[in-house]
Amino acid sequence: MAFYVRQGRLPEKRHVQFRAPGGALYAEELMSTKGFESVYSLAYHLRPPTATLDVQPWERPMVRFLPNDPVRNRHWFTGRLQKSGDAVEARVPLVGNDDIVLSTALVTEPMTYFFRNASGDEMLFVQHGDGVLESSFGALEYRAHDYLYVPMGTTYRLQPRTPTTLFVAESSGQITIPRKFRNEFGQLAEHAPYYERDFRAPVLQDPVDEVGEFDVRITAKGRHAKYVVANHPFDVVGWDGYCYPWAFSADEYAPITGKLHQPPSSHQIWDAPGAAFILFAPRMFDYHPLAVPAPYNHSSVDCDEIIYYASGNFMSRRGIEEKSVTLHAAGAPHGPQPGAVEASLGKTYTDELAVAIDAYGPLRIAETVSGVEDVAYFRSWVAQAAVR
Ligand SMILES: [Fe+2]
Repeated sequence: MAFYVRQGRLPEKRHVQFRAPGGALYAEELMSTKGFESVYSLAYHLRPPTATLDVQPWERPMVRFLPNDPVRNRHWFTGRLQKSGDAVEARVPLVGNDDIVLSTALVTEPMTYFFRNASGDEMLFVQHGDGVLESSFGALEYRAHDYLYVPMGTTYRLQPRTPTTLFVAESSGQITIPRKFRNEFGQLAEHAPYYERDFRAPVLQDPVDEVGEFDVRITAKGRHAKYVVANHPFDVVGWDGYCYPWAFSADEYAPITGKLHQPPSSHQIWDAPGAAFILFAPRMFDYHPLAVPAPYNHSSVDCDEIIYYASGNFMSRRGIEEKSVTLHAAGAPHGPQPGAVEASLGKTYTDELAVAIDAYGPLRIAETVSGVEDVAYFRSWVAQAAVR
């Protein structure tokens, strides 16, 4: 993240002696990315975060992914999945490749342990619910339509106040603000669809002054472990830097609209290795007097397109319900379904809210979702009257 934040008590310089009122040294921790080259933060703990009492196996459930072969368009009713639990255990993977894995989760339980994803950044889209994302950086309140960004290596717990539906992206690297939305100094550009004030940082709480046995579950590029650590991970008295969890509400996104149809890439919101995040937010339609508000037909030649339908009326899609996920595969033609173009004419506004991700490598399909698939979806464009 490119906004500097500081909270709590800090020494005047980094890497110098910093003592508690009783005289003990605080334990400085650097949380950095891309080695020591990219964004980082410095945190000061009551006690060293390194005091590991035990390392035990932790098996994240293995999910088998199968190729989308023969390549075709797919649709899943993820709202019909029955699984629930805490924010890690409740995840039901849908699709994935080496760059990104996408899951849904119905979070009904607080986490009784801490979680650290060291494989890459996470982006949690909150479709319903509210609660707190707790981390060593503080408490980050969340509500419906928030994107919750969690940088790799963050030790956190998600504590729902009400049942929380998530659409989860686990990246293999950094999820960032697209370069095109920044000026040469890193400030958000005037044409960006958001502004620094729209981003909410965690609020540091009083440090948790506890020793004992704390359960931290770690995942790191296919390797997993349960660490038992002696010091509470949230014992931070101060931190500063550019690397921390944040929240951004999709309701704050200011869509770019135009005289004629804007392509999905104009609705981009985040970047990630091998993937672009796109947000179809409520917006005015094109204002040319003969504009066709529905999108044109296309075969996304070099990416697999995923759309998670969060809320609103999904004008161009037939048979879609809230929490539906579609995959429009590279090379497979898609577009408005029969009648959707005519129905769109004269419309001036859409209230759709849909979270989309274009993946540049072929997505594989998780076996976990075969029970909620709309298997005939690839045929949903037939019955179109011929143009005469
Ligand atoms: Fe598309």
